[in-house]
Amino acid sequence: MSNETQDAGLLLVTGASGQLGRRVLAHLLDTVRVAPSRIVAVTRTPAKLADLTARGVDVRQGDFDDPASLGAAFKGVQRLLLISTDTLDRPGARLAQHRAAIAAAKSAGVRHVVYTSIPKADEIPVPFAPDHAGTEEALAASGLGWTILRNALYFDNLAFSLPSVLATGKWFTSAGDGRIANVSREDCARAAAYALAAASNANATYDITGPAALTTAEIAATVSEGLGKPIELVQLSDADLTKGLVAAGLPEFLALAFVSFDTTTRLGLFAGVSDAVEKLTGQKPETLQQFLVANKDSLLSAALAGAH
Ligand SMILES: NC(=O)c1ccc[n+]([C@@H]2O[C@H](COP(=O)([O-])OP(=O)(O)OC[C@H]3O[C@@H](n4cnc5c(N)ncnc54)[C@H](OP(=O)(O)O)[C@@H]3O)[C@@H](O)[C@H]2O)c1
Repeated sequence: MSNETQDAGLLLVTGASGQLGRRVLAHLLDTVRVAPSRIVAVTRTPAKLADLTARGVDVRQGDFDDPASLGAAFKGVQRLLLISTDTLDRPGARLAQHRAAIAAAKSAGVRHVVYTSIPKADEIPVPFAPDHAGTEEALAASGLGWTILRNALYFDNLAFSLPSVLATGKWFTSAGDGRIANVSREDCARAAAYALAAASNANATYDITGPAALTTAEIAATVSEGLGKPIELVQLSDADLTKGLVAAGLPEFLALAFVSFDTTTRLGLFAGVSDAVEKLTGQKPETLQQFLVANKDSLLSAALAGAH
């Protein structure tokens, strides 16, 4: 699939100023080598994407909370990457946003939607997974063509936990010996760029994972070695881990989400490893070691900033 890209039709990326959206656009332009004149970037804040406008990308304003903005935003587009939003603080709000985007895509004559979901969206005990399952269902019912990219949890999420891990030397977890096949955000972005630019209109679901499923003990040991910092793993119950995260200042909805990742890992539901990244991009996904080498400086400086 990596060399079969379409040669016509506008390709659109929503959430274009987010971390994933920006990297998808970079890969569309520089890796897949789609002409800028075929690319539309939709964001709530176009001013953030002046660099892409300067490269010839059509940057448009659009907000899923304002469905009236989406008709003009999606006009003339053939294939659209719907990046799931980060609206997690209001239950049900994200699913409503995604449904509005799908309805607008349909009305605008879009033919195919690529969506960033999560592995086993309909099974895992993660509080926001029903948004992903509901969006997958809405796409299946829409009559549009669809590609579901079930992105595993990013290696990059280490940036959230490392400040306290490195400050205390302790990694608290409730994941037990469960395994998880994390992936880098960069591999998710590269895979999404190829999936969006693909020639095929066939419906497809891909699990976008890294190359290996690791236990938390293996991850902590690799991080400790990669960053040159001692880390002791401490296994807790879900309830005690939640209490600790809330006591450390995390809003309860986020603490529950983080703990649910460990619960899901412990249950073995994040352990699946797929070859989808290589199938889509022609390139093997990064290992944790490679991710740590590439991101050591930014992870350590984020950890230092977070510790103050
Ligand atoms: N697999 C993982 O480990 C993992 C980790 C974090 C997040 N995620 C999910 O993957 C998505 C992309 O990740 P990321 O790292 O790029 O997160 P991010 O940098 O926080 O990006 C959040 C995205 O949500 C978009 N958004 C928020 N409200 C919106 C609205 N009302 N209408 C349209 N778009 C809206 C933003 O677009 P604009 O600001 O450009 O409008 C932005 O692209 C996240 O939103 C989240 O659903 C997955």
